[in-house]
Amino acid sequence: MFAERGGSDKQRSCHRPEFRVVEAGRQDMPRVREMCKPLLNDHPQLDKWFDRNADAFCTDDRPIWLVRLGDDEIVGLLIGRFTGEGDSKCSLLYVKPEFRDTGLGSLLLQTFEERAKAAYPDVTPFSHLNVYIDQKPSVKFFLDRGYKVTAQFFHETKNVWRQRLRMEKQL
Ligand SMILES: CC(C)(COP(=O)(O)OP(=O)(O)OC[C@H]1O[C@@H](n2cnc3c(N)ncnc32)[C@H](O)[C@@H]1OP(=O)(O)O)[C@@H](O)C(=O)NCCC(=O)NCCS
Repeated sequence: MFAERGGSDKQRSCHRPEFRVVEAGRQDMPRVREMCKPLLNDHPQLDKWFDRNADAFCTDDRPIWLVRLGDDEIVGLLIGRFTGEGDSKCSLLYVKPEFRDTGLGSLLLQTFEERAKAAYPDVTPFSHLNVYIDQKPSVKFFLDRGYKVTAQFFHETKNVWRQRLRMEKQL
């Protein structure tokens, strides 16, 4: 399951066995929301989004993967969305700051992309996401993993307009 570091397309990921990527169930949602609290500054709509779509998460269409450390702690997550006709969205990817740069983000992205390929066996699947242009490490992270910028637009958060990039990758 765990790839060695140094893969050709930067799909390298964590090979420390204490971390496990698991698919979340509904019972994990309170912890998912707790985990997303540090993101509310950049994404204040998250709480409403979770409320409005409460039943939609942890389904085949909107799976959530968690990185678990031991039995209790969650240190990273990816929320995916499969909207049909090959389209897969990485709605949210987050690794706790103290656990970054050890391959966990790559591992989550890889898990999501593998599911996207399996979900769309009859068409060429692609994945996409939006990222703030000023989050340079995140933009670099996706560029290094084969994503290309396909659009640039402005997004308003708490009366502040920030530039966002839409990034896409054919899988
Ligand atoms: C973007 C984000 C998810 C990346 O997570 P991460 O766990 O740090 O990602 P990785 O560890 O897989 O890769 C990051 C860097 O760590 C280093 N790294 C990766 N695997 C490594 C390993 N096995 N050993 C040592 N270093 C490693 C590399 O420098 C890598 O960068 P590069 O390969 O592109 O040069 C994280 O920075 C984050 O949560 N950011 C805030 C939220 C965000 O902006 N999300 C994106 C928009 S939704």
